[in-house]
Amino acid sequence: MNYGNGDATFRACGGETGIRRLVECFYAKMDTLPEAQRIRRMHPADLGLSIDKLACFLCGWTGGPRRYEETYGPIQIPVFHQRLAIGEAERDAWLLCMAHALDLQPYPDELKQYLLRELFVPAERIRQAVAARRSR
Ligand code: HEM
Repeated sequence: MNYGNGDATFRACGGETGIRRLVECFYAKMDTLPEAQRIRRMHPADLGLSIDKLACFLCGWTGGPRRYEETYGPIQIPVFHQRLAIGEAERDAWLLCMAHALDLQPYPDELKQYLLRELFVPAERIRQAVAARRSR
C-alpha cells in the first residue's frame, strides 16, 4: 500500500471521523501514561481545543482537507513548538502516546508503522528547532 499517495493515508485512517478518534485516544493516553506527565502539563487543563487542533492538522497532514488552516490559519509546526521545553524525552513521550493510541485503532499494522515512522519526522524537527533556539 502506498500511503504517501494523495489522500491514501487520510482514507485508510477512516477520514475525519477516524482521525478524530485517533486524536481522542492520543490525548487520553497523554492524560494517563506516567511517561507523558511532563508533556501533559504543557497543555491546558481542558484538552478539547487541543484535540480539535491536532485532529484538524492531521487531516491535512495525511493528505485530506486542510482543516487546520481553514479554521485556525497558517501554522509552522516546529516554530509553533519552539517556545516549549521539548527534548528527546518529550519527543519520545509524544510518540509513545501516539503508539498506544494507534494500537487501539482498527488500522492495518502497516499503516500504524507508517504513521509512527512519518510522525517521527515533525517530532524530531520540533526537537531540533527547540535546541537551535536554546543555543542562540
Ligand atoms: C515532539 C513532541 C511534541 C510535544 C511535546 C508537543 C506539545 C504540544 C503542546 C504542549 C501543545 C499545546 C500548546 C498550547 O495549547 O499552548 C501542542 C499543540 C499542537 N501540536 Fe504539538 N507537540 C509535539 C509534537 C507535535 C507534532 C509531531 C505535531 C504534528 C504532527 C504537533 C501538532 C500540534 C498542533 C497542530 C497543535 C495545536 C496548535 C495550536 O494551538 O494552534 N505536535 N503541542
